[in-house]
Amino acid sequence: MFTLAPSLLASDFSNLENEIKRVYMDGKGCNYLHLDVMDGVFVKNISFGLPVISSIRKVCDIIFDVHLMITKPIRYIHDFIEAGADMISFHYEACDNIEEVLKTIDLIKNNNIKCSVAIKPDTPVDVLLPFIDKLDMVLIMSVEPGFGGQKFIDKCMNKIKELNKIKSENNYDFIIEVDGGINFDNAKEIKDSGADIIVVGTGVFKSENVKETIERYMNV
Ligand code: DX5
Ligand code: ZN
Repeated sequence: MFTLAPSLLASDFSNLENEIKRVYMDGKGCNYLHLDVMDGVFVKNISFGLPVISSIRKVCDIIFDVHLMITKPIRYIHDFIEAGADMISFHYEACDNIEEVLKTIDLIKNNNIKCSVAIKPDTPVDVLLPFIDKLDMVLIMSVEPGFGGQKFIDKCMNKIKELNKIKSENNYDFIIEVDGGINFDNAKEIKDSGADIIVVGTGVFKSENVKETIERYMNV
C-alpha cells in the first residue's frame, strides 16, 4: 500500500469544505486527510483545533489522520476522538515520561481508533521499541514540527529504513508515515525506504493542478 495524505495546513482556510473536496474528489482522490494540530507550546506555531475538526467532520467522509503537536496530549485524546479523529499521532517528546506514553496509547486504542506515535528528526527510532508492538502506525517527522514548507532533513531517510528493518525482522504490522518536506524529488526514495503513507502539504494544495499532482504522488 502506498498512500498520500494531504496536509490541510497548506490549504486555504477561508474555504475548507471546498479544499477537502479538491483532494477527496468524490472518493476518487485521497482517502486520508492529515490534520496538523499545534498548540504554540510544544511547537512555536498555532494552527487549528477541536472546533475546526468537528466542523469539517460534518462535510466529508475522508479518514481524519490527526497529528497532535501539543504538550501532554493525553489531556485531549477524548476530545479529538469526539471531534471525529479516525487515527491519532501524538509526539513521544510531548509526554512527561514513558508511563504517560503507554497510558496515551491505551487510551487511544481503548476507543477503537488507530494509534500512532510521532518522533521528531532528532529522536532516535530506538525510543519506540518498548511499545512498538502496540502501534498501528509510526510517524517519522522529516522536518522540525511546527511549519509547512520546510526542507526535508536528509538524515531522516535512514530512520525510515531503520524502522522498516525493525518492522520486517519482527513481523510487526504497523504502517510507516513520513511527514514534512516531501516533493517529487524525494518521494520515490521515501517510498522505497519503507514509507506506507506520505504527508504532503505545500506540494499538493499549492500546486497548479491538484488532481494531476495527487495522481503523480500516488504512482511515484
Ligand atoms: C509540520 C507538519 C506537516 C506539514 C507538511 O509540522 O506536521 O504535516 O504540514 O507540510 P509540507 O509538505 O509543506 O512540508
Ligand atoms: Zn503533520
